[in-house]
Amino acid sequence: MARLEETCELDLHEGREPIPRSELQARVAGKQALICLLTDRVDAEVLDAGQDLRIVANIAVGYNNIDVEACRARGLVVTNTPDVLTNACADFTWALILGITRRLGEAERQLRRGEWKGWALDHMLGMELRGKRLGLVGVGRIGRAVAERAPAFGMDVVYHARRPADIAGQHLALDRLLSTSDVVSLHCPLTPETHHLIDQKALAKMKRTAYVINTARGPVVDEAALAWALRQRLIAGAALDVYEKEPEIHPDLLGLENVMLIPHIASATTETRTAMAGLAVSNVLAVLDGAPPLTPV
Ligand code: GLV
Repeated sequence: MARLEETCELDLHEGREPIPRSELQARVAGKQALICLLTDRVDAEVLDAGQDLRIVANIAVGYNNIDVEACRARGLVVTNTPDVLTNACADFTWALILGITRRLGEAERQLRRGEWKGWALDHMLGMELRGKRLGLVGVGRIGRAVAERAPAFGMDVVYHARRPADIAGQHLALDRLLSTSDVVSLHCPLTPETHHLIDQKALAKMKRTAYVINTARGPVVDEAALAWALRQRLIAGAALDVYEKEPEIHPDLLGLENVMLIPHIASATTETRTAMAGLAVSNVLAVLDGAPPLTPV
């Protein structure tokens, strides 16, 4: 804020709720820059209301909330916040992998309900990671950082991506990854190609002992199909940080014990969120100054 205030006049949306669409449209008029969040849909309608815009700076690495083509057509720069959140998101992916395979959510819920009867040899048995296979769908910055942490847990890495990547792991077709992995972790962007990539058919290919982790975008997974697979025990569990209709959670998921439901916080460390906001500010200041943006989409 202080850096922006040095040279810009600010129109700040206050409060924790996303700005209502009509208000965004009204307030973007006459502005040169828009700093937005992944909860703001920036489409042709918003851009038409903001005829003076030069840059749309998303405080997120994912930018499926922005109509990039419409921005391109109007000559607008779009920026996101890559790199600064890679570490936080990769660590968090491992938190979810460990959390669901060791049943942390389920165990804590049981304890808080007062139902823990004491130590028992077969209480809350989970799956050990050592010697198991981690299948990564997408190996951009975050997928790679997740892969780099795998040796610490003794996991063998395989991945599916559009093209072979320079990482320590085997490149597999998606079907083969799904049928052989013990943990399938999603790190692809949301695009028309990845929408419902993990559907009923994909889930049916997985091992009954396997887990799905989603820190990418909700619609990559068909939540109704996932709830069905979890209920039928076609897979062992899932850990989700993102949802199809945030902040709504598919009602079929809420009653299941074998799913960890986390409210989209993979990048939520003080260090990372501060860096994300700072990067968006740097992008805006650069573009308004006639310089190239630091992290253009
Ligand atoms: C969060 O989901 C992001 O894309 O940064």
